[in-house]
Amino acid sequence: MRPQVCVVAMPHLFDPFTLKSITLRNRIGVSPMCQYSAADGVATDWHLVHLGSRAVGGAGLVIAEAAAVAPEGRISPGDVGLWSDQHVEPLARVSRFVRQHGAVAGIQIAHAGRKASARRPWEGEGQLADNAGGWPTVGPGAVPFGAGLDKVPQALDEAGIARLQRAFAAAARRAQAAGFEWLELHFAHGYLAHEFLSPLVNQRTDRYGGSFENRIRFAVETTRAVRAVWPENLPLTARFSCTDWVAGGWDISQAVELARRLKAEGVDLIDCSSGGAVPGVKIPVGPGYQVPLAEQIRREAGMATAAVGMITQPGQADAIIREGQADLVLLAREFLRDAYWPAHAAKILGQTAVLPPPVQYARAW
Ligand SMILES: Cc1cc2nc3c(=O)[nH]c(=O)nc-3n(C[C@H](O)[C@H](O)[C@H](O)COP(=O)(O)O)c2cc1C
Repeated sequence: MRPQVCVVAMPHLFDPFTLKSITLRNRIGVSPMCQYSAADGVATDWHLVHLGSRAVGGAGLVIAEAAAVAPEGRISPGDVGLWSDQHVEPLARVSRFVRQHGAVAGIQIAHAGRKASARRPWEGEGQLADNAGGWPTVGPGAVPFGAGLDKVPQALDEAGIARLQRAFAAAARRAQAAGFEWLELHFAHGYLAHEFLSPLVNQRTDRYGGSFENRIRFAVETTRAVRAVWPENLPLTARFSCTDWVAGGWDISQAVELARRLKAEGVDLIDCSSGGAVPGVKIPVGPGYQVPLAEQIRREAGMATAAVGMITQPGQADAIIREGQADLVLLAREFLRDAYWPAHAAKILGQTAVLPPPVQYARAW
């Protein structure tokens, strides 16, 4: 008798990926990137062209930048928002165009906590005074971030926490009304949810601080509030800073456990980033430096993950998928350099049959 050979084909970068009722045409996503180009939270033509051209460039998923769930949750005065119905239609224009060009439109919803009220990056460092275009900030406690972000936030009381959790849910409803089919909760980078998670930041003594159970309460309750309004058939995802890169801080083992808890709450994928809780941290930045975090959460929490961070080469991205380190790769700065990165990668990897260049541009490929 001949031995049976069982060949399990691992997916590759240009294989589709299905999560809930949504199928991405490939495993390449545009990582959320603030453009600081909105007015009163309203997306502009910049967002249409910026996000639209990356859909034309072949991305499977285009995630719009951190959209603030409340005005004081904006990082800068130029952030996109989802705290008002007036934000819906300009974003709907973006999501329609992205979908017409074969990509799935996603959006991240966020609250910047104590890091809010900052200048746009090209206008210098630091926070804006309340009388100079800025606003009062909030956080788990009345301790500033430091390093130029020196505004003392107001410590949220339980009523304030509940108000913001309702704001996350209302923003999720508006995201759906704007045609987005993929929602990401921003629980990373030292913004509000991460401020609750990290023992380096959260010094509360009530049921939102102290033990692991208490520090994750804000994120778990917020997820529950959003899942209750976000359609069951659409992916709900969360971005974590999987580690603070500081001994005694938030770390990968806590991130794995939070992933398990959020999976039970109906989160479908974890987008694995790192850092941002406190200033002055030495982060071992290098090609694919956060990929092991995505791999560990994928393996130990048994859920889909996205890898992000210095993924720039087609072969590198393909290997991450083929080796099962993550289900998706998200690129940020490389997509700013090349809106057509997926189409170029398809040519390099011999996949133009599945991802041809845009017909209008075919003669140039
Ligand atoms: C201009 C810019 C804006 C960003 N805005 C966001 C954001 O809105 N939300 C977020 O989670 N990360 C944001 N990031 C981080 C990226 O999504 C990404 O995680 C990071 O840049 C690492 O990926 P890369 O090495 O491919 O750039 C931003 C990064 C850049 C460069």
